[in-house]
Amino acid sequence: MVRDAELLTRVIAIDPRRPDPELVGIAAETIQTRGLAAFPTETVYGLGADGLNEEAVCRLYEVKQRPRSNPFILHAADATTALSLADTVPNAAEKLAQRFWPGPLTLVLERAPRVPAVTCGGGEKVAARVPDNTVARMLIELSDTPIAGPSANLSGSPSPVTARHVLADFEGHIEVVLDAGPCRLGLESTVLDLTEQPPRILRPGVITAGEISEVIGDAIEAAPQASESRYRPRARLVVVSAASSTTAAAVARGLAASGKRVGLAVSAEGADEDCCHVQRIWGRMTEPEAIAAQLYGALRELDDAGVDVIVAEGVVEDGIGASIMHRLRTAADAIVENAEMDTASE
Ligand code: TXA
Ligand code: MG
Repeated sequence: MVRDAELLTRVIAIDPRRPDPELVGIAAETIQTRGLAAFPTETVYGLGADGLNEEAVCRLYEVKQRPRSNPFILHAADATTALSLADTVPNAAEKLAQRFWPGPLTLVLERAPRVPAVTCGGGEKVAARVPDNTVARMLIELSDTPIAGPSANLSGSPSPVTARHVLADFEGHIEVVLDAGPCRLGLESTVLDLTEQPPRILRPGVITAGEISEVIGDAIEAAPQASESRYRPRARLVVVSAASSTTAAAVARGLAASGKRVGLAVSAEGADEDCCHVQRIWGRMTEPEAIAAQLYGALRELDDAGVDVIVAEGVVEDGIGASIMHRLRTAADAIVENAEMDTASE
């Protein structure tokens, strides 16, 4: 899609170990004046706006090209402020905040009246989190408001884990990007709805259902597989499940033989340079955290290489591996579960 650039997007390099308040303050001023500033978190880059200002939030929906019914997460600098966005704070929220904040857990609670409904997709629930990233927290503190922060990608495409990814989608459409290097985790936060009984995971992430139920002592309802497709590269995406008897390299070889330009995203163990046009090794099978950190970057890179099809090797669906597979399954055009290619999802 081609959109006319309207603004000069300022990219500000920030040292993540010693962020300069004056530089971060430029983005804070943007937020305070109803502008849009992209910022790093420990998960992915967020596209920030003043979450309590309706005009800023409306612009965020528009620039992200997201339907107004899909709510934003509010980012706060500390747990007290994050929980003050809720009308009532259940005991479980206090416990989870103490255990996991700052960190990659988003809590969905009853919305406090001071939070505009538009920020929350027009609904009565608010999502809040405290990011574990010094640049993000400095930005929120200096902005002196909770920051509405969806992942800084156009609706539907892979999330951004570098400032370059943010610019690919939003250069000319937002005022500022704070560039503090690649995000540590690479996978969006776990979203947990505490307004339901039992609490329900709406989106799996790095923090697992097991870790959550250990803290609150409740059984947790698992996330349903998302029905609409998201996180999609431009190329067709074929995911080969870890349980399949065919390897991703074999699937890639077959597609290349049929004349397609094929990119392979694969573990070090499953790598095979000769089976495709471009190969991107995203980590060792035994280190799913490393694969999570490389996931979106690999999909974007293979897209940029101009392939027709990306074949992605699945991981074992356990712990963080289950969250990686949630993203891949949601993005896939086809999934190879066994030896056969399942095209039912096309
Ligand atoms: O790690 C993350 O969560 C990143 C970083 C930037 O913080 N943010 C992020 O935001 O992934 P977004 O908007 O791309 O995804 C948030 C997800 C969406 O699926 C949204 O529907 C859901 O959380 N969500 C947000 N507010 C909600 C609410 N009030 N009720 C139910 N779901 C909500
Ligand atoms: Mg997103």
